[in-house]
Order: sequence, then C-alpha cells, then structure tokens
Amino acid sequence: MTAKTVEGFSKKNKEEKIDWLIEEFLDQDPDAKSVLMKYWNEDATIQKLHDDFIENTLSNFYLPFGIAPNFVINDAVYAIPMVIEESSVVAAASNAAKFWLDRGGFKAEVLGTEKNGQVHISYAGPKEDLYQFFAQIKSTLQESISGLQKNMHARGGGLKELQLKDSTEHLDHYYQLHGIFETKDAMGANFINSCLEQIATTFEQEAQVFAPFQRLNQFPEVVMSILSNYVPECLVRAEVTCPIRDLTNNGIDGETFAENFLRAVSIAKVEPRRAVTHNKGIMNGIDAVVLATGNDFRAVEAGVHAYAAKNGKYQGLTHASIENGQFKFWIEIPLALGTVGGLTAIHPLVRIAFDILQRPSAEELMKIAAVAGLAQNFAALRSLITTGIQKGHMKMHLMNILNQLEAKETEKEKAVEYFKDHTITHREVAHFLEKLRN
Ligand code: MEV
Repeated sequence: MTAKTVEGFSKKNKEEKIDWLIEEFLDQDPDAKSVLMKYWNEDATIQKLHDDFIENTLSNFYLPFGIAPNFVINDAVYAIPMVIEESSVVAAASNAAKFWLDRGGFKAEVLGTEKNGQVHISYAGPKEDLYQFFAQIKSTLQESISGLQKNMHARGGGLKELQLKDSTEHLDHYYQLHGIFETKDAMGANFINSCLEQIATTFEQEAQVFAPFQRLNQFPEVVMSILSNYVPECLVRAEVTCPIRDLTNNGIDGETFAENFLRAVSIAKVEPRRAVTHNKGIMNGIDAVVLATGNDFRAVEAGVHAYAAKNGKYQGLTHASIENGQFKFWIEIPLALGTVGGLTAIHPLVRIAFDILQRPSAEELMKIAAVAGLAQNFAALRSLITTGIQKGHMKMHLMNILNQLEAKETEKEKAVEYFKDHTITHREVAHFLEKLRN
C-alpha cells in the first residue's frame, strides 16, 4: 500500500473517514472538517437516512428545491417541484407556465408504458437448436419468476413477453432473451433485474440437460442480465397549441414569432451541435422534476438521448407546426419514472414533492415531467429568438455573483435595481459594488 490509499475505509465511522481525508488529501485544513459537518442535518434520524443512501457518506450536498406554479396540464392546475442548481431554470419554467396558462394550458398523454430488459447470450452452435430449446423452455422460464412476480401481478404488472432475438449479424454468436415488462407505478429496475437474473439461471440450468446441446457439447452461455434504460415504448407526449395571433409578445407579432420559433426547432433537427443544447434545455426541466421526485436522472438522461438519435442522427426532441393559423409545439419522449419504490417512500422531501403533485401515478408523473421539459424548451427558444438568452439568465445569475462578492442585503437591493437596465457581467457587478463601498 502506498500513502493516500487505504484499506477497510468503509469500516471507519464518518468522523474517522473525514479525519483520514483531511490528513491525506486536504493538507490538514481545519476548515474542511467544519464545512463538511455544517451540512449534517441536526436531526440525527434524517442524517442517518442520508448516510445510508450510499457508501462512505461524509456530508450532504444541497441543491435548491423550488416550485414552478401555474402549470395547467389537461385542465388540472399543478405547482411543479424542481430540484436544480441553475439560476434561471425555475424562473423560465414559471414564465412558460404563465404564458400557456392564458392560452389553454398543456395537454399530455401517455403513449405506452412498456419497459424492457435483456439476458445477453453467447452461443456458437446451430441456430435452430437454440430456437427449439427456447420454444421448449419458454413457459419454464416464465414460471421460474412466478414468486418474484406475485406483488407486481397483483398490481396488474409483470413480464408481458419473452422473445429470443438473433443478433449474430451485429456480433458473432450473440443472442438475447428480450423481456417486455409492465411495472405500473414502479420504475421497476429492481423488479426487472431480479426477473432477468432468475430467467438467466433457469435458462442455463435447462440448457445443461437439453439433448442437442449435449450432443455437440455446445451450450449457450449467459454473458449478463440487465434492464435497458432505452425505453422507446414507455413514451409520453405533451403539447401546447394556440392561434398564431395569440403568440404576439415582447413587441413581436405572432406570425413572425411562430415562424422564427419553427425555424429554431428545425435547426435542432438538422444540426446535432444545436440539437444537443436544445435537448439540454429540455432536460433542465425534466431532470429537475426527476430529481425532486427521487427518480433516477441518469437512467432518464441516457434513455432520452438515445431516443434523440433513433433516426440514426442526433436530433432535437421537440416538434412544431403552423397549420390553418394554429401554432402547435410538442414533445414525445421516453420516460421510465416511478412513484413507488426506490427513494420515493424514504426521502422526506420527495414525499413532499409527491404531496405537492397530489400523489400522481407514474403515468401522471410522466406527463408532468414531459410538460416541464416542453415548457423549458419553449422558454429557452422564446428567449433565444427574441431577447437572447443572457438577459434573463444573467438577471437570475446576478444573485450568485453578488453572493460570491459577499454583498450585504442593502447592496444587493441597490444592485438589483441598477442592473435592471444595465448589462450584467461579473466585472460590472464587482465595479458597481466597489463604487458603492467607497
Ligand atoms: C441552458 O441551460 C439551456 C439553453 O442553452 C437551452 C437552449 O439553448 O435551447 C438555454
């Protein structure tokens, strides 16, 4: 072992871990320990909850938990909880919500809820033998997970279909057992993975006693079993629409606005460099809801970006049209979300987020998250094609700059007033404070 490496680290208690870190990596900085400890929750039960989320927890990392009110979705009013660090996101969502509140609100529908997972297999023998084997043991594979499926069955979910797929044209000897699952209000990762692992075990056991495999002494081997975070069949659509004349805003007439808006959406369809940023803006809204509701934002991100590339080219995820004087803007996006299981019942703030959302089902949450993404994209494009993004963004970022420069409350008030009609840069704000202080 060399200096700075450690054995049995996870066995140390929290303070010992911090002390070790400060000794080895933080030049014995006395402030580091106090900063880490300042972020401990004073309620020991809550702190223990967070300690236990992961291994080697030292402290908590706060992100703001905010609310974007005035969202009308399918005629019901929502205040959407959002967890995000970027200054302008909640403000942008709230603006878009308000804009569409007066224009009929958002409509959303779930187009599908199927999730999927695969047992990945290597097999070098004759294809027909494998297909014969699968046909013979398919029901045994399904029966092998009946215990695991009990609760899910009771809720109306479970394994819907199991298929053998030949993927040898992509990779030598590569086949898959492709499982299609319905997981109702659960995101379903644990359920799907447990089912797949049991199916894989049964598959290998049965293979050992299948005569054609024995004859050639060639058996299929399981490489791995795991759900897929690519869920194009777990799809939600959200939409806004209004007469073009109602789009008149910021001194721009509705027609010009609609045409420029469509152009911006089209650019994200053809230019991947723009599409990535366009979609990043959508994910500002979606991730914030996903985080606030204790869902897995990495899974959502991975699935969404794969979907954005489904046509063989990375594209923007929103669409817009102008037809018969009517403007329409919509998104279709795969979102595997849960409202039960995982962190949803454990994290006190997640429970509050669900209460704020009136305890939605997973399908309702899919609609809410899709709407948040669409709203965010609308707000971003509206700024981009009118005032530019920096005006609103820097207005929200001003407070961060002032905090960084340790401005007092009275100085902040003066700065906010002054920068209402002056360009905000770090330099300008520093200059303003300097003048104020001298
Ligand atoms: C910034 O977080 C998001 C935007 O860049 C999105 C976009 O360009 O569409 C403003």
